[in-house]
Amino acid sequence: MNRVTIQANPNLNSPIISPEIQGQFAEHLGHCIYGGIWVGEESDIPHTRGIRNDVVDALRAIRVPVIRWPGGCFADEYHWRDGIGPRDQRPSIYNSHWGGVVENNHFGTHEFFDLCEQVGCDPYVCGNVGSGTVQEMQQWVEYITSPADSPMANLRRKNGREAPWKLTYFGVGNESWGCGGHMRPEYYADLFRRYNTYVRTYGAHKIQRVACGPNVADYAWTETLMREAKDHMDGLSLHSYTLLDQKWPPSGSSTEFETREWFSILESALQMEHLIGEHSKIMDQSDPDLKVSLVVDEWGTWYPSEPGTNPGFLFQQNTLRDAIVASLHLDIFHRHCERVRMANIAQMVNVLQAMILTDGPNMVLTPTYHVFEMYAGHQGAQRIDLAVECDTLHALPSVSATASEKHGVVLVCLTCLDPQNGREVEVAGLGVGLELQKAKVLTASTMQSHNTFESPSLVQPCDAEVGVCNDLLSLTLSPMSVTSIYLRVKS
Ligand code: AHR
Repeated sequence: MNRVTIQANPNLNSPIISPEIQGQFAEHLGHCIYGGIWVGEESDIPHTRGIRNDVVDALRAIRVPVIRWPGGCFADEYHWRDGIGPRDQRPSIYNSHWGGVVENNHFGTHEFFDLCEQVGCDPYVCGNVGSGTVQEMQQWVEYITSPADSPMANLRRKNGREAPWKLTYFGVGNESWGCGGHMRPEYYADLFRRYNTYVRTYGAHKIQRVACGPNVADYAWTETLMREAKDHMDGLSLHSYTLLDQKWPPSGSSTEFETREWFSILESALQMEHLIGEHSKIMDQSDPDLKVSLVVDEWGTWYPSEPGTNPGFLFQQNTLRDAIVASLHLDIFHRHCERVRMANIAQMVNVLQAMILTDGPNMVLTPTYHVFEMYAGHQGAQRIDLAVECDTLHALPSVSATASEKHGVVLVCLTCLDPQNGREVEVAGLGVGLELQKAKVLTASTMQSHNTFESPSLVQPCDAEVGVCNDLLSLTLSPMSVTSIYLRVKS
């Protein structure tokens, strides 16, 4: 069996891994909101004020730090006043982007902030630049955040919410280069400056404003936005999905694939490292002090929708391959966490690379969910830099690794990309006097293994064996696996 050696280099000046790197995205798309989160107050499915209890409990368990809403492409057609007031009086709209279904607006601003409060996370609202007015955006922010005796704050009070909410992040448009208006970067930069002026701070909390950033490798977009508008933004977004053969439109299948497609998808996932590196270089030139975050607010696998489902609902299954895609991304975000301070996987429930799948009253946790569960300890921890020496397979590294430390607890996560053979691994230099707290491994008998409503626990973390001797950690990684190892200083 091939051996892998990893040298850890703890450094007191290493950056903190922002919790928001494990952020989520929930759009009015398919059954993400309706059915997946919102079942309504009349539902027999256990809920709190219409929001599913099982889903909230599962999200709390992985410590979801932030949820982006209401889109996505939906955001640039969303008019927030449709989603407030008595639900039976809210107008219906046509969801032209996603499946051509009628949206009844029963899940709106109050319901979204209730969801965030129930989950215990920060809200990230995306505003409408593509088809909305400046006044509409200004009034939404006032409605959400104003403590004053002002018209929008009083409308909020009339609708049952006295205190303003804390609005942590606000996106000024989504994919303005595409579904959000097909704009040129110069034009969007000017619009961003204009709309953003009216995303005012009404209360005690300053809102972090995120500008629409590039699509994948559109470096000209990043250059233009940084040149024309960097002083007005706190974050610049990046969207990049993991696609078979790195080609749009999505091809292949979420569950029916062989070794070639395994490696093609993992290669596509690893492209994120190059993309972040190149966009960061551009940002470094005008922003050497790292004031503007790179916010990867849409990422994850995108396959053709599951046969027999509405193609506009983007419902796909989630296998062990998706779990590996998730851990590779999180490792990359950690390596770039000086600049990447938020990321939002697409999407949270029932859409694309979801954490959770639901069917009526049933819920299943995906392999991707379990990776977030295993990585939760990295949130807010200090990165430990690692030098990994490993063999390659199909020109990809056989092992990916990340480590961090928080309050004397060290977390090491190791991913084995090889679907056939495991690896002997030694990790040196994490520090002396450490003892094993717990170790878990996520793997399965086949690459295509996934959880279903009939077999919900086929892919789930199990205990792993790890040796700790002085400052040396040794273990055998299973093929196609993610392992998390918690160590603490001996008392
Ligand atoms: O996540 C699905 C869609 O992908 C989003 O609505 C859009 O922003 C992106 O193109």
